[in-house]
Amino acid sequence: MDVFPTGRASFDPPQKSADRLWSQVVELLRDERERIAGRDVSPAVDVQRLRAVIGAYDFDRPASPDAVIDEVAELLRTATVHTTHPRYFGLFNPTPTLMGVVGETLAAAFNPQLAAWSHAPAAAEIEAHLLRFLGGRLGYPPEAVAGSFTSGGAEANMTAVLLALTRTWPRYGAEGLRALPGRPVMYASAESHLAWLKIAHATGIGRDAVRLVPTDGLRMDAAHLSRQVAADRANGDLPFLVVATAGTTAAGAIDPLHELADLCGDLGLRLHADAAYGGAAALSDRLRPALDGIERADSITLDAHKWLSVPMGAGALLSTDAEGIAETFRVTTSYMPADVPDTVDPYTSSQQWSRRFMGLKLFLSLAVAGREGYAEQLERDARLADDLRGALAATGWRIVNDTPLPVVCFADPDDSTQEHHDALARSVVESGRAWISPVRLDGRAALRACVISHRTTPEDLNELVQAVNDARKAAA
Ligand SMILES: Cc1ncc(COP(=O)(O)O)c(C=O)c1O
Repeated sequence: MDVFPTGRASFDPPQKSADRLWSQVVELLRDERERIAGRDVSPAVDVQRLRAVIGAYDFDRPASPDAVIDEVAELLRTATVHTTHPRYFGLFNPTPTLMGVVGETLAAAFNPQLAAWSHAPAAAEIEAHLLRFLGGRLGYPPEAVAGSFTSGGAEANMTAVLLALTRTWPRYGAEGLRALPGRPVMYASAESHLAWLKIAHATGIGRDAVRLVPTDGLRMDAAHLSRQVAADRANGDLPFLVVATAGTTAAGAIDPLHELADLCGDLGLRLHADAAYGGAAALSDRLRPALDGIERADSITLDAHKWLSVPMGAGALLSTDAEGIAETFRVTTSYMPADVPDTVDPYTSSQQWSRRFMGLKLFLSLAVAGREGYAEQLERDARLADDLRGALAATGWRIVNDTPLPVVCFADPDDSTQEHHDALARSVVESGRAWISPVRLDGRAALRACVISHRTTPEDLNELVQAVNDARKAAA
């Protein structure tokens, strides 16, 4: 039998050993795929045992790779909420495509350094092509699309704020916030994703500078926004940015995009669209109208690792303002390779410096499924979510959100308390049958189920409906 090399030799073992290791990984992934539906979505975790197993690795002696891989796989199997499970109806993390997983592997193995175009022309051009494709579907002129892949939506949104500050106040870049004649303030709906608070903290505008505008039917109330901007201006503050959420995290609400674009035009404010997961709808001709108006935003966030079903992390910031982006991230050094005419260096046009090839997993997935393959999957999710709404309503639940996106929020009409809904979600999760979460929408308690995995079948929806009904019965 072949002996696995350990120690430094394990960095690049002989081909036979490497082949065996890959076979082991392929076998493991096959087993995962075959068995996942039969496992608990969210296994109960014994924290002490988990820490003991991990703590036993003191790294004093090399370990055999097959044993380590088996042990880590077992940890992942038993101490992970399985987002790849067909009954994971949770955060917006669909089961990744197979091509996405292959893309991650190839990206890791080739390991192109995407900081400088000249180091990774193939990778840089693939990402630029993808950004033009996504931007084009969202309604930007494809040839004008600039931006970057990001680690996720939070980084893309942060990029949008940096761009907005830089564009609004040209002295901000060099002199910072103290060059501004007052306090900048930005606006997002009360239902928006609250990374805005961390972004405000990090950019120095401060958390209090984020105005969470009340909603009307879970969508930003534009009239209220208009009044708030006027009040802030009267108070000496400096409004600069409105964020329209195109698919709120909790309920899939889409802010009134045209109305907000009109308002921003009238008030001289920038508009950013946070379409972290909703933006994927642009790939379907049937769903795209829900995003009408998004093309009027100065910048757009779209996460590939959400509804485009590639492994984490891959987000994107899209804009047509190449000049503003270049101004925001400009830097020159003696140690980076010289730029190449007619190309853009990612390190001078985005927040990251060393950069992993995040776009490959999306490129492979899109190339193999085709745009229409994606549309089929997205529309299927939307249809299954409609079926779920129907099945829940038929068994006495109240559907409390209205969205074309596959986010289903539902409440028990017999007990509207948060405690009750928290307990129901806990009970479903603990049963291992499905994963859902409790939410608060407009101050009211509900349960939330996202239908986003290509593995989910109508039978899985039936199982979810039975699980929530069993939990409700048990709580009665
Ligand atoms: C609307 C929205 N924006 C931003 C984010 C943050 O994205 P990420 O977790 O990829 O950083 C999320 C995450 O759920 C989201 O739903």
